[in-house]
Amino acid sequence: KKLRIGMIPADGVGREVLPAAQRILEALGSRIPKPEFEHLDAGFEFFTRHGEALPQETVDAMQNDVDCALFGAVGSPTRKVTGYSSPIVALRKKLNLYANVRPVHSITGLDPRPVDLVIVRENTECLYIKQETLTTTEENGKEARATRLITERASKQIGRMAFRIALSRARAGHPAGLTIVHKSNVLSTTDGLFRESVLAAGKENPEWQDEGKIQVSEQIVDSMVYRLFREPEAFDVIVAPNLYGDILSDAAAAMVGSLGLVASVNAGDTFVMGEPVHGTAPDIAGLGIVNPIAAIRSAALMLHHLGYTGPAQDIERAVVEELREGIKTRDLGGKASTEEVVAAIEKRL
Ligand code: NAI
Ligand code: MG
Repeated sequence: KKLRIGMIPADGVGREVLPAAQRILEALGSRIPKPEFEHLDAGFEFFTRHGEALPQETVDAMQNDVDCALFGAVGSPTRKVTGYSSPIVALRKKLNLYANVRPVHSITGLDPRPVDLVIVRENTECLYIKQETLTTTEENGKEARATRLITERASKQIGRMAFRIALSRARAGHPAGLTIVHKSNVLSTTDGLFRESVLAAGKENPEWQDEGKIQVSEQIVDSMVYRLFREPEAFDVIVAPNLYGDILSDAAAAMVGSLGLVASVNAGDTFVMGEPVHGTAPDIAGLGIVNPIAAIRSAALMLHHLGYTGPAQDIERAVVEELREGIKTRDLGGKASTEEVVAAIEKRL
């Protein structure tokens, strides 16, 4: 048996961190089925050469040839570029990877504050449907509008995922927390629907209702950010619409020292794609100093979602040991190169 993994490095440091993740997966040896890596194209750089950011061959391969995938990072210009639209947003939609799961945790004894939370971000709608219009009126000059889509279906789907994850984190005598993030005091229709749908999803499974196992609460998004910085230890599982989830996960990454540490998976019911939370880091791309740990942890998280929990834990343990040992890239205040970090983790495995 083999484990076929689609590799989409895309742009910038994506091309440095994905090979790092590949080496770590290979270092697992017989602990997982033999990995077979298939390089797949996508990204802004590919767009500038071929006129498309996500070739159909990549989508086809994802749907038919591979068991799972890893994505690096894609560099999207801030200006509008005609014909270009982000391939990662498109992939999430095309493969119905409706959940973006982002665990953020500190390392005991190393980080000043205890953080151990999972952000479960809706991945297919909200403002990311990218329906924007530009008109001109006499009164205002240019007028830009964006449509924000929230559906009962997607909100319930992400709600179920959040409840499942919360249940998996509940321990005897220690309930899991689930915080629903929204802004329904202002956006009562859209965020109101999100909130109601997540709460309704929680009523579907008697185990989720089980008194004491999951404590559900809610938090308005702005005070959520405030509380996240003031008392990160108060949070466990956080479920949020797409945009709030995106912003909260970068904020949470700051609590544990660096974006270069935080992993994620894009998960649907039948496919999972690992992806570091960070972007293409253009300020350090190509210098060989990017922190590969977010990508390595994303590979571990992908294995975890596929059911290879043992090997996933092995990777996490090696990463933590290595961080404690102090071989750190510059974003963490160290001097190590990407290569030195990968080699150290590889050796531990
Ligand atoms: P970024 O995450 O690329 O970088 C933010 C800061 O964190 C930079 O100073 C960078 O050097 C540092 N950083 C990020 N990852 C690091 C790592 N692994 N090791 C060491 N330092 C790291 O965010 P930014 O600068 O806002 O975006 C750059 C480009 O990436 C943009 O084109 C943006 O659209 C894209 N982007 C893509 C994402 C994706 O592919 N999912 C996510 C976020 C941004
Ligand atoms: Mg982001």
